Amino acid sequence: MRIAIGTCSTLPEPDPDQQLLLDALRAAGAEPVLLAWDDEAPIPTDLDLCVLRSTWTYYLDPERFLDWAERVASVTTLLNPVDVINWNHHKNYLAELEANGLPIIPTAFFDRGENASLESVMSDRSWLDVIIKPTVSASSFLTKRFTPETMAEGQQFLADLLQDRDGMIQPYMTEVDHSGERSLVWIDGEVTHSIRKSPRLADADESVSEALTPTPQETEFATRAMRGFETRCLYARIDVVRNDSGELCLSELELIEPSLFLMQHPPALHRLVNSMIREAQSARRSA
Ligand SMILES: Nc1ncnc2c1ncn2[C@@H]1O[C@H](COP(=O)(O)OP(=O)(O)O)[C@@H](O)[C@H]1O
Ligand SMILES: [Mg+2]
Repeated sequence: MRIAIGTCSTLPEPDPDQQLLLDALRAAGAEPVLLAWDDEAPIPTDLDLCVLRSTWTYYLDPERFLDWAERVASVTTLLNPVDVINWNHHKNYLAELEANGLPIIPTAFFDRGENASLESVMSDRSWLDVIIKPTVSASSFLTKRFTPETMAEGQQFLADLLQDRDGMIQPYMTEVDHSGERSLVWIDGEVTHSIRKSPRLADADESVSEALTPTPQETEFATRAMRGFETRCLYARIDVVRNDSGELCLSELELIEPSLFLMQHPPALHRLVNSMIREAQSARRSA
């Protein structure tokens, strides 16, 4: 059984999940291969399954990435599915989830080329401390914090950002400095564990905790966020942060290439490997 792990030709940072996954797949009798989204080589046609894992640089050329994902999906089973990848790559999905009743970090969205005034957004929304970031992003790319004291710099940053891409503004969630951002790891229909992440803005390194047991409230939130995706997706990460009233808000629903912090929680690794083997077998049977 040949199972491709979607990655990039040069990882911007090491992927601690990767070796664990390769070893565990081999131990389970599969033949894992790495498949880089930005590699010019043709996509092998003898794959039983491709699971995206560390395609972390895709935001640098989302159109090329989506085209690659389409091509993979045309020769094998791609998980998560290509329509989910398409939907999830642009953070406008947050607005859709909010419209469906899921609390998200309050967000103002802007299209590329729009003439947006940071001062108006901050005064209209009563935001005194904000984050500006791209809507197609990963790894804190072009993600910066501004306050009224740095308004001029923030306005320039926003204008430069919107010249090239869609962007978004959010209030800075101060809880990330205290209890941190929580990543709820979801594998094959179940929340397996959670991880606490400390804040990370442009170019900083990420620092993460040991595996934590999700609270019932976190599990319920993750389950709500995954409504409609639970039978179609193999893996997900639901990143949440508490607002000033202590309520959970969605920061990101990561359905493309989230780190799953498998090293911190071996049962999650086994759950992922078992579900990958099952999907590869079922794809092979129906081929
Ligand atoms: N509204 C916010 N309040 C506080 N911190 C934020 C906010 N938005 C982003 N950050 C910080 O920037 C990091 C990257 O932003 P995120 O929205 O997770 O995008 P991505 O992971 O796609 O780069 C977060 O992990 C968090 O540390
Ligand atoms: Mg993130």
